[in-house]
Amino acid sequence: MSIEVVPTRAAVGAEIRGVNLAHPLDDATFTDIEDAYNSYGVIFFRCQSITPSQQVAFTRRFGEIELNIFGERWSVPGNPEIVVVSNITEGGRAVGVRRAGENWHSDMCYTARPPRGTMLYAIEVPELHGLTLGDTEFASAQAAWEALPDPLRHRIEGRRAVFDFTGRKRAFPPTQQEIDRNPPVTHPIVRTHPYTGEKCLYIMRDDCTGVEGLEQDEAEALIAALADHIVKPEFVYRHRWRPGDLLMWDNCTVQHRAIQDYDLPQRRLMHRTTMGGTVPV
Ligand code: SIN
Repeated sequence: MSIEVVPTRAAVGAEIRGVNLAHPLDDATFTDIEDAYNSYGVIFFRCQSITPSQQVAFTRRFGEIELNIFGERWSVPGNPEIVVVSNITEGGRAVGVRRAGENWHSDMCYTARPPRGTMLYAIEVPELHGLTLGDTEFASAQAAWEALPDPLRHRIEGRRAVFDFTGRKRAFPPTQQEIDRNPPVTHPIVRTHPYTGEKCLYIMRDDCTGVEGLEQDEAEALIAALADHIVKPEFVYRHRWRPGDLLMWDNCTVQHRAIQDYDLPQRRLMHRTTMGGTVPV
């Protein structure tokens, strides 16, 4: 099977054509897909029709599956690896996690070994008067690093930021047990991508609450300046979903946020899987 890789016009992202994810992939095709994923930071496949088990099997090709805190509350029956992301309620009960990821972030950055990447499979996409809602934006933390002036690069290289699970306001406040399981950790502000060796900025508002070796005021100003820099429009790709899209992003190369511009009766239903990663260096 030969694939076609069609880059978006933005700083990240490419569409992969010529693949049916409902069928097992041979190793050569998988290698081409993985190379595109590492190079473009976000890849997506249109018009897919896959079962939860097929999504899990495809995710596993990229490494072990990471279980997410939301999976304990909202997973697909029989597939604990899949978190349901949705605003739909059934019998008065939310079928999935609502308003997930509405602020810029990189998934589970508050853990010692954040995930390599995340996959979302779009089943229902909200629409109003023919207009698609519920887009997701992706910002290239690699392009943002490359655009930094040298003095700022020198100032931050080798520094580590504090990532605190309780820093971000969540739609569903975490339990005390979840907080206890996730004590603050530190990660390098400038990460080296484990597969490409490229450098990326790894810092975000809310999740980052300090910088080692800096006074709090200085740290907060630096975090805010870098976080704003990463999400400048020139580094951002905005994905307009269609049902049947399977999209995956790299949690080192990109940050993302979900645009919450819809509400019931506009329904959004996504299945999310997460791939285990490595300790950031
Ligand atoms: C997330 O941050 O995982 C959710 C993204 C989305 O629903 O678009």
